[in-house]
Amino acid sequence: MTIGVLGAGYVGLATAASFAARGFAVVCADIDEKKIVKLQIGELPFFEEGMKEVFAAASTPAMFTTDLPKACVCDIVFCCVGTPSAADGSADLSFVRSVAKTCADAAPNAVFVLKSTVPPGTSRSILEFVQGNLRVAANPEFLREGHAVQDALNPSRVVIGADDESVKLILLDLYTPTGAPIISTNTVTAEMIKYASNSFLATKISFINDIANLCDVIGADVRSVAAGMGLDDRIGAKFLQPGPGYGGSCFPKDVRALMHLGQSVNVPLRILEATTAINADRQSLPYRMLIESLGSLERKRIVVWGLAFKPGTDDIRDAPALSLLRRCMADDARLVAYDPLVRSLPSEFAEIEMAGSAIDALQNADALVIMTDWPEFVDFDRAEILKAMRGNCVIDPRYVLR
Ligand code: UDX
Ligand code: UDX
Repeated sequence: MTIGVLGAGYVGLATAASFAARGFAVVCADIDEKKIVKLQIGELPFFEEGMKEVFAAASTPAMFTTDLPKACVCDIVFCCVGTPSAADGSADLSFVRSVAKTCADAAPNAVFVLKSTVPPGTSRSILEFVQGNLRVAANPEFLREGHAVQDALNPSRVVIGADDESVKLILLDLYTPTGAPIISTNTVTAEMIKYASNSFLATKISFINDIANLCDVIGADVRSVAAGMGLDDRIGAKFLQPGPGYGGSCFPKDVRALMHLGQSVNVPLRILEATTAINADRQSLPYRMLIESLGSLERKRIVVWGLAFKPGTDDIRDAPALSLLRRCMADDARLVAYDPLVRSLPSEFAEIEMAGSAIDALQNADALVIMTDWPEFVDFDRAEILKAMRGNCVIDPRYVLR
């Protein structure tokens, strides 16, 4: 069986790696030539734990190509291109449509599987868009960056959405050997499972962030509150870590897209409205705390520990740290940043000094803000940090320090 993968981002590469590791012949295509050239010489376009090793063991240079039609002439074609937010909050499906058209032209009747996160109803609209010249299924990914390869190889669950029995059987055959629980349903339900899952997790984070706001005022310890709640297995301990708001390439855009869908059919999703508002509020919290502590930020030396949107990755898409940096830059602060994996920033942040280590960054610092809960930050204690700084303002919205 041959597998085509369209899109060599986190989702596409994790998908390609997992099928290659399972022994399938995989062709992975992307329109980004630079990315493909890197992959052909065994380099990854980003850091992802364990991915390089899987490709080193399984791939041949021919596996990666810019020839999208080539990847469409396979038994199963996974669509893994991005679905970014459009200006109105809806998911921009233009990349999905574009590769669906490529696939329908190159291999009519191919099994085109939407792994990209798409709003409920998209599989059906794509089928209409290609005038029935594809067999379309929805098979959402639940990959956590930093664990994407493991999550693809050993999924906690597999969701198969098919409106056509023959397509359903093909996907059941593909995934049954993983041993994962399989939910087989129609396409619109499968697509909804993904949006509801991400929105629920985002809501859980906003819930604990709201509780954290209250705990901080009344003198309760939110970490113990979360630990106490998490021991109830109806609640569970995961995704109860307070912080400067959820970021990354999924939660913000997926919550927005689901809210947009609700509005478009006159079913406003009120919990998600609150989730989003709380997230925005928590994202601005470190900046507000800096102002409260330092007054003006002009010419103040502010150190930011952690740039990635979460530990275990060098991904800075929608990272809360970037929105803090932008605010501080507008106030003419002197900024220093350190992250164990993120070594450079886009050109809009050119004025920011990148430090070689957490402790080096602190020299002459007026303030420190810890924006990512990297394990190496947990090892520091406040006294050690304060000794290395000039000022005494330490802001820890992730409650990393003991
Ligand atoms: C993203 C979203 O985060 C996720 O919700 C969605 O399910 C899939 O897309 P990710 O893999 O992180 O996941 O995206 P990204 O790293 O942007 O990768 C998408 C790739 O598709 C890029 O490499 C891009 O060049 C490629 N692409 C995009 C194409 O090959 N063809 C296109 O027409 C558009
Ligand atoms: C998410 C989903 O978890 C995954 O199933 C989906 O398919 C893709 O999107 P990912 O974006 O890799 O994965 O990151 P995740 O681990 O979910 O974290 C998202 C954001 O929430 C990060 O900014 C993280 O710091 C934040 N977060 C997470 C918290 O603030 N508190 C928590 O308890 C957990």
